[in-house]
Amino acid sequence: MSRRVPAALAIAGSDSGGGAGIQADLKTFAALGVYGACALTAITAQNTQRVSRVFELPPDLIAAQIDAVVSDIGIDATKTGMLATAEVIEVVAAKVRDHGLRPLVVDPVLVAKSGDRLLREDAVQVLRERLLPLTTVLTPNLPEAVALLCRPIASWDDVREAAKELVALGVEAVVIKGGHLPAEAGREGPATDIFYDGRSFHEFPAARVHTTSTHGTGCTFASAIAAALAKGEGPRAAVAMAKAYITKALQSAYPVGRGQGPVHHFFRFWQPRALEGPELRRKTS
Ligand SMILES: Nc1ncnc2c1ncn2[C@@H]1O[C@H](COP(=O)(O)OP(=O)(O)OP(=O)(O)O)[C@@H](O)[C@H]1O
Ligand SMILES: [Mg+2]
Repeated sequence: MSRRVPAALAIAGSDSGGGAGIQADLKTFAALGVYGACALTAITAQNTQRVSRVFELPPDLIAAQIDAVVSDIGIDATKTGMLATAEVIEVVAAKVRDHGLRPLVVDPVLVAKSGDRLLREDAVQVLRERLLPLTTVLTPNLPEAVALLCRPIASWDDVREAAKELVALGVEAVVIKGGHLPAEAGREGPATDIFYDGRSFHEFPAARVHTTSTHGTGCTFASAIAAALAKGEGPRAAVAMAKAYITKALQSAYPVGRGQGPVHHFFRFWQPRALEGPELRRKTS
């Protein structure tokens, strides 16, 4: 009998632009050989430039989606993205507990890259108290780590201290994404992420990719971690795989829209030929 393909569940918002949110999650799962299911938390009207509208879905509908998926498909890893409100976090945390949805990757989405707020202010405390104790891997960027800990982070020493404090809040492992740390000596630094699992630190460095195609990098990174966990990897190996995947996806990005375009989730399967396609056809016909 063949073994079941690993399955992952993304609990997140929809990005009509297709580059972030649930769309990025499902593309990432598919690219990494994991079956993807989803529970939508919100519908955003969004493109590569801005979020123009957000419609939050009722918590009981979010719960019903999770129940439907878990009772039939079976889930090997779960990832949360945009949760929007304190009430939604409560419901999701209850479902994670009831269904034993572990391993769990929590991307503590607070604001979109465009600067639009995606989690209400009062919800941060609920996130900290209800969801973090259930989390296998937490993936804050620096502003999110600052918001979760209510204190500034100004140096790499501070980042390590913050990682320890986040683990003390109950998460099994944390990877703080270093993309937002102020550049040293006026230069943009490398995109180094710091991982801590309560025992040791590990740095995941990568050369910074100079591109405007950074829409959905956070969602893609977190769902790549979930995909690796679904396949049975431990947290540190999962982060290593996700870091390699996001770096290549950034390097392979092709232009979409007029703002910050998405990364190329399927770089392993196809290279963008759309721009040369019609030209090529004209030349050869
Ligand atoms: N320009 C870049 N070059 C290389 N790696 C990058 C770049 N930007 C982000 N990354 C990496 O992508 C991953 C996601 O981090 P990022 O800082 O973009 O998350 P985020 O701020 O939560 O993003 P988002 O706004 O999409 O939620 C991290 O591993 C980070 O180091
Ligand atoms: Mg993010």
